[in-house]
Amino acid sequence: MLLISNQNIEPSLKKSFTETFSLKISEDKVPRNSPYFTFSGDKLSLHLNNIMDSSEEKKPSKMPSPSPLSFDFIDTWKRIKPGPKNQRKKDPLLKALTIKKNNDEGPIRLIDATCGTGKDSLFFIKQGIKTLAYERSPYLAPLLWDAKRRASADPELGPLIQDNFLFSFSDAVKHQESLKSEPLASLPNSSKFKTPDIIFLDPMFPPKRKKALPKKEMVIFSELVGPDHDQETLLRWALDLRPQRVIVKRPIWADPPENLVPDTSYQGKTVKFDTYFPNL
Ligand SMILES: C[S@@+](CC[C@H](N)C(=O)[O-])C[C@H]1O[C@@H](n2cnc3c(N)ncnc32)[C@H](O)[C@@H]1O
Repeated sequence: MLLISNQNIEPSLKKSFTETFSLKISEDKVPRNSPYFTFSGDKLSLHLNNIMDSSEEKKPSKMPSPSPLSFDFIDTWKRIKPGPKNQRKKDPLLKALTIKKNNDEGPIRLIDATCGTGKDSLFFIKQGIKTLAYERSPYLAPLLWDAKRRASADPELGPLIQDNFLFSFSDAVKHQESLKSEPLASLPNSSKFKTPDIIFLDPMFPPKRKKALPKKEMVIFSELVGPDHDQETLLRWALDLRPQRVIVKRPIWADPPENLVPDTSYQGKTVKFDTYFPNL
């Protein structure tokens, strides 16, 4: 993966970005068939550059090459409804997230092990939940890192993001022992995050119908990331950490793995939130 760096990127930003993601810098050459990043002004974009559709075994995708991708947390934040108390009875995700905590125990702490575009993480933060998010895709993690960086500079959203959103470019299952210690040892600002109350998983299922997702999400997840075939391993990792709840977002038609039947399920129209209580 490359960072095309023919623009004026602030040197310290360029350094921390390329070091965090081990990217090579090219001053001018745009690759013909592989994705690459650019900074336009202050914003990072991913150019998909006619990547192959993995579901069609190396045949070039029939979709026209999509416009460059970037994530904008400030815009996403504005679109999330705060979730008033009277909605709790209707919204299946809010119901799944409702746990009992004493006031002196601080806010709910949640791990979003499948951060994706960051939309669900931002939804949790808007509900007052402290969120630690993992994303393993080398395409998506830089976009999340950059969206977090820009949102942190926003006068309104910045303090909330800095206090309540920890992000790590890694595979969640690689974190086991460090998540059992309090406070977490493996992250910068770790004193702000102790062991989780809830672990949320939203692995990618192979879509039942091609048009099951909105266009942008379809491009991101089916063209770029692909289905998460190891989702049973991820669920077993989450249960083993013994939070109060593990919530798995699944399409309404998807069955849980054998022998891992949820304790309860909160049903929406197209998705359900299968919920496990590992300590019962
Ligand atoms: C369906 S998307 C999640 C969408 C997300 N909830 C959102 O709000 O956009 C699944 C994402 O989880 C990531 N993922 C799957 N398994 C993971 C793991 N073990 N560790 C870190 N990321 C993982 C994939 O790379 C993919 O980006």
